[in-house]
Amino acid sequence: MRKSLVVGNWKMNGTLASAEALALGVAAGLSSSSADVAVCAPYVFLPRLHEILKDTKLALGAQNIADKESGAFTGEISATMLSEMGCKYALVGHSERRTYYGDSNASVAARFCQAQSKGIVPILCIGETLEQREQDQTFAVIDEQLQAVIDLAGIAAFAGAVIAYEPVWAIGTGRTATDDQAQEVHYYIRQYLASKDQSIADNMQILYGGSAKPDNAKGLFAMPDIDGGLIGGASLDADSFLQICRSV
Ligand code: G3P
Repeated sequence: MRKSLVVGNWKMNGTLASAEALALGVAAGLSSSSADVAVCAPYVFLPRLHEILKDTKLALGAQNIADKESGAFTGEISATMLSEMGCKYALVGHSERRTYYGDSNASVAARFCQAQSKGIVPILCIGETLEQREQDQTFAVIDEQLQAVIDLAGIAAFAGAVIAYEPVWAIGTGRTATDDQAQEVHYYIRQYLASKDQSIADNMQILYGGSAKPDNAKGLFAMPDIDGGLIGGASLDADSFLQICRSV
């Protein structure tokens, strides 16, 4: 039986004071959630959040991670640095990184491996644009994004990872995939993994992301191949995020 996981992606929002208040507000409400819960905060907040969340059930994650171990890569943050900051998870390949900052499938696969090299669980973000969906390219896009990691690290690497399916056309738009649309792609992802390793497929936590809110989370999380959510806007409010966490 797969454990549910709900991850908040705060993106580039907040101040140190608001981040502390939000994190402590979420941590205080976790006793009534059966899911594992984490928040992916901006890099600069991680040291302080690591300190104040140490003895809570709320895990910490990063929103990205370098695709190199160390060196002359200005502005990048290494897996070693994030591990020292207590990060249990790291998002890799979020569509905003792919769209605005040119993260390629190969670079995302390298970031995936860097995370695992320091004991950080990569959350591989995959999903299609509206144009790709309208051109019936959804499954081809998913194939490419998954295969890039398998080509670099082998299917076994997925044993210590999480996948987040985020239809790009649902991110921040208020237009959520229907329960059935999401389930169809989650099922496809699990079958793609099963074609290479059934145990990995059976145990893989596949999260849904894209305008997940308190009023739609229960329906989404009831789908057989949806194991939780990757939450953007709704994670910036403790009560809303906790309602989603309690929906699993
Ligand atoms: O990483 C999660 C994010 O992309 C989803 O954003 O605001 O649609 O929940 P949102």
